[in-house]
Formats: sequence, structure tokens, C-alpha cells
Amino acid sequence: MSGVENRPPRVGPPLSLGDRRIEALEHATAIVAHAWRDFDQAREEETVPSAELQNRLLEPLPEEPGDVIADLDLAADVLDASLAQSRPRYLAYIGSSGLEIGAVADLLAHSYDINLALDARGATQLENQTIGWLASFLGYPATAGSFTSGGTISNLTALAAARERALPGSRTTGMANHAAALYCSAEAHYSVTRAAELLGIGRDNVRAIPTDDRRRMSAAALERQLQSDRAAGIMPIAVVATTGTTLTGAVDPLNDIADVCEPYGTWIHVDGAYGLPAAAAPSSAPLFQGLERANSVSVDAHKWMFVPKACSAVLVRRAGDLATAFSHNEAYIPHEDDALNAVDVTLEYSRPFRALKLWLALRVHGAQAFRDAIEENLRQANLLYDLAAAHPDFETRPHRPQLSIVPLRHVPPDCSDADRHNDDLCRAMQRDGRVYISPAIIDGRTWLRPCFTNFRTTEDDVRTTLAVAAEIGTAICGDH
Ligand SMILES: Cc1ncc(COP(=O)(O)O)c(C=O)c1O
Repeated sequence: MSGVENRPPRVGPPLSLGDRRIEALEHATAIVAHAWRDFDQAREEETVPSAELQNRLLEPLPEEPGDVIADLDLAADVLDASLAQSRPRYLAYIGSSGLEIGAVADLLAHSYDINLALDARGATQLENQTIGWLASFLGYPATAGSFTSGGTISNLTALAAARERALPGSRTTGMANHAAALYCSAEAHYSVTRAAELLGIGRDNVRAIPTDDRRRMSAAALERQLQSDRAAGIMPIAVVATTGTTLTGAVDPLNDIADVCEPYGTWIHVDGAYGLPAAAAPSSAPLFQGLERANSVSVDAHKWMFVPKACSAVLVRRAGDLATAFSHNEAYIPHEDDALNAVDVTLEYSRPFRALKLWLALRVHGAQAFRDAIEENLRQANLLYDLAAAHPDFETRPHRPQLSIVPLRHVPPDCSDADRHNDDLCRAMQRDGRVYISPAIIDGRTWLRPCFTNFRTTEDDVRTTLAVAAEIGTAICGDH
């Protein structure tokens, strides 16, 4: 780099930032540094877009160049007035948390803008190494895998491989002559249904297997359904076990499911988009026993491995399974020495360098820091459960959280419509801004559903969550 700083600024092509490049980068760095400092503690209220900002967002297409510094400031204002999952008390849905080194990695990856469709040399090797590290972190014996844009696409990718294994040639001839079904728990994520729709299995052929009292798939009910379908000539494509349901964080019993599937060679896919990283945390690892028996797994590093979206991965035990479902021979994509390209094992052609953020994160922090952060989230979930269980105005689920989702209901004695009350409470908390949580309907009842997947959340934030829910709930309970 010596001497580079002393050269006169070079004004590049028209779409380069030219001689304002460094100034723009330094300004962006200051904005990011401010944001990171701001994320260190929760805010006491959420900023909403001002009237002036909203007007700026109605401006027409600019024809003339703007000022890069002023425009970066405008972008920063918009970001500041947005719901950022990086904030420590964002506990809605299943959040991510914009890990700092992951954000830096994204800037690097997007600057080089490598496409990981064909062999991209160093980047391809790094992607393969990261797939191996991820498998080893989770304790899953993968021999291949690839990064995708999310759990939805990871599930679809794995189930395309399962379909080709169950019905060889179906990718060529279609599904018209096949009766097939897909199995998952009644509480599986709807991306499984979407995969059935897209793969020609059909949503009516998704068998929603009943769950037990802890909302885990019943292996006995699965076995009965598989037997009756086989007797009717229906081909099972795959059983999708969820390790961490979106509603309550239930973990399906993998060994029991594998005992049912293995005698028939039925493909087991583990949807661990949310929960699978907890397989690496000592306190929750026993829930994942049998993981190694799955044919494929999905995991979203952009959920509980904290890196920014999008960074999901699908891993398979047998390397050939993905290629059988996805490889193509196109005149414009030559294969060298019969080597497989990334596009031969996955759906996308334009493939950004998603692996870099997980690779850098694991190098910079080390795997143990991730195990510790997941353990901390598990402890926070248990703390909230205990605090709520001990509070006279809160109802909790009959069992402790399996992972980091803790459904709660505010049920003060003088409240006659607890469902309306909790629905309104959730919205009132969102408006209040100190804690952001989402509601969920469990067995027809409305619950508050905090979920802990953020490395910035502290024990104080957990206590504040219950205190704010109690305070606002008490203030509005006269309405119901
Ligand atoms: C269990 C499960 N599977 C799949 C998905 C879909 O993941 P994505 O939003 O990354 O597509 C989710 C999302 O919350 C999920 O919880």
C-alpha cells in the first residue's frame, strides 16, 4: 500500500465516486461506528420517520448527481428511523443481530462482487471451508452443502434433492404420474408447504403430523401415516423434522423419527433454520441427538449465529444428492475436468459471497464465543420464563422453553377478554418502543412471543421486557 495515499486523486469512470471516494468511505465508517455504539444499549423509545423524512421519501427519480455526503446522511436518517433487529430489545419473530464483523465482511464481499456460480478460486475454497466449519460446529457429518438466501430456499433445495432420490427422473418427467407426500409436524414452518407447492408434490399432500404435549412431532403418528400412505401406493418424499419451531421453539425427536424412517430409506430433512445452532450449546445439545442420521439439514446463520442477512446453508450427508437434483450441462457453463460448479448443487446462478461473513466471524471470534452467546440467549429465555411464572399477572406455557422462545400472556384478574388484551398489549408495546415483540396465536389464544437470538441482549433487557409488559398491560387493562 506504500505511496498509495500520496498519489493525486484519480477521477475514475462516470459511476465511480472519483476523488470523493475516501471521504465517502470515512463518512460511512463514522455512521456505522455511531450505529454500533447506539446498538450497545437499548433505546428508551424507537425513532419513527419524521414528516420531513417521509417527504424526502416521496421525491421523484433524481436525474442529476447529488452530494454523496448529504445522501449518506439521508440514508443514515432512514436507517435510524427503521426497525433494526440489531437493537438489544428487538425480540419479535426470529431476529438477527447484524454482527459487526459480519457487516464489515458484507462490505468487502459486495465491493469485490464475486459470483460464486462457477469456480471463483479463493472465494470458492473459502465457501467450501465454511461449509465444513459449519457442519463441524453443528455436529452434522455433511460431505457437501451450499449457502443460500434463507431457510425457505435451503428447505426447497434439500427437498428437491429428496424428491429426486424418492422418484428418480421426476425432475425430467415431472410429477404428473406420481402420487407423493411430504411429512412434517403440524407446527412446521410454511416454507415446507411452499416447497411442496413448487416441487409439484402439492400442498394437499403435506401431511401435518400431530404433536405431543410439548408440541414435538409424534413419531408414532408419523409411523401410522407413513404406513397408510405406503399401503395406498403413495410415495413418501421426505420427513421434515423441525429443530426449533417458529411458534414455540419445539424440537422434534430426531432419533425417534429416524427409527421410523430408516427401515424404508425415507429421506429425513431437518429444518433447523432457527434452532439448529443450539445443537452446539452444551445445555441444549441433548435435544438434537440423532441429527447425524438426517440426510439434509437447513440452518440460518442469519438467525442464531448472529451474522447479517442473508446467510443460510443447506448441508447434505451424501455429496451426490444435490448434484443429482441440480446439475445441468449448458453450452455457456462449461465444466472443467468434470468438476462440479456451485450451480450444479444449488438453485441460484447469481450467488453473492455469503460465506465470507460467517467465515470472518468464526475466525475473529472463535467458535466458543458463538456457543457462549447461544447459551446466554438460552439463559435469558429461562430467566424470562421464571420471572413471568412468578408474577401473579402473567401466564406461561406448561413446560419450560426448549430453546429461546418464551410465550407469555398478561392476564390481570380484572381483564375479561385476555386475547384482545394481549393483542392490544403487543401493539401498545410496539408503539411505546422500549421493547419490540410480536404476538402469536397458540391453540386459538393470543400470546406475547419474545424470542432471544441477539448477542446484544442483556439480563437487564429481559427484566425490562417483563416490567414494560406489566406496566403497559396494567395501564390498558381497563379497556378490556
Ligand atoms: C423453522 C423455520 N424454517 C424456515 C424459516 C424460513 O427462513 P427464511 O426466513 O430465512 O427464509 C423460518 C423463519 O423464521 C423458520 O423459523
